Amino acid sequence: MYGIADLRARLVCAAALCFVCGVLELVQIEVGLVDNFSTLIGEARAGAGAAGVAAIVDPAFEGDRILRLAAARGWRIAAVLVTHGHDDHVEAVAEVAAATGAAVYAHPLEVARLRELCGERGVPGERVIAVADGQEISIGGDRVQAIFAPGHAPGCVCWFVPSAPALCTGDVLFVGSCGSASDPIAYVDTLQRRIAALPEMTRIYPGHDYGETPTSTLAWELSANPALLAMSVAEFCTYKGISPPRAGR
Ligand SMILES: [Fe+2]
Repeated sequence: MYGIADLRARLVCAAALCFVCGVLELVQIEVGLVDNFSTLIGEARAGAGAAGVAAIVDPAFEGDRILRLAAARGWRIAAVLVTHGHDDHVEAVAEVAAATGAAVYAHPLEVARLRELCGERGVPGERVIAVADGQEISIGGDRVQAIFAPGHAPGCVCWFVPSAPALCTGDVLFVGSCGSASDPIAYVDTLQRRIAALPEMTRIYPGHDYGETPTSTLAWELSANPALLAMSVAEFCTYKGISPPRAGR
């Protein structure tokens, strides 16, 4: 039996937020009370009566609903991909890992805290795995790639699906804006050298529903997002309304 929230997620998917891209299909789910998005990345061949493998990016809240939606699509969640460890992105990580046996992949700086969170649900610490920059995680016959993306937090990872192409950005990039900056220099480097270098057709799946649309393309962000239009640390700090780092950094 599905509740209203499940029905909404299904309708959201039906409203073209469910993209079949090569082998992998991305399904965006709005969860919790602060406009968070969790994103399922699963084998497109799965469906009614077919079994398939999926990953979940940032099971932020409502783990039970995420599990039901994955099951309804015939997906077994084999991997939890964490963009960063802020509380509003990891609340349901342990619940999903405990229910599925999935491994949890995160930036090395976030592993200790995630092991602590998962341990409270009986998930062994070794199931929380530190990824390296550029490391690929298999999902069925396809893969996603970790792109280290410091700036919002030191341990940020964006998860890239090359075959789509698609990028789950967490709080690093929203539709039309970006997250708070813990390190403006690192943030500008992440945006200009790492994210802007991806194919312009890459579809952006942010960690929050803060834009005019739930997803966008990198091409649109490059043309309209002030975070990406800021070509220097000074311009970025002006956009964010923060003081630029002192000289010598
Ligand atoms: Fe965050």
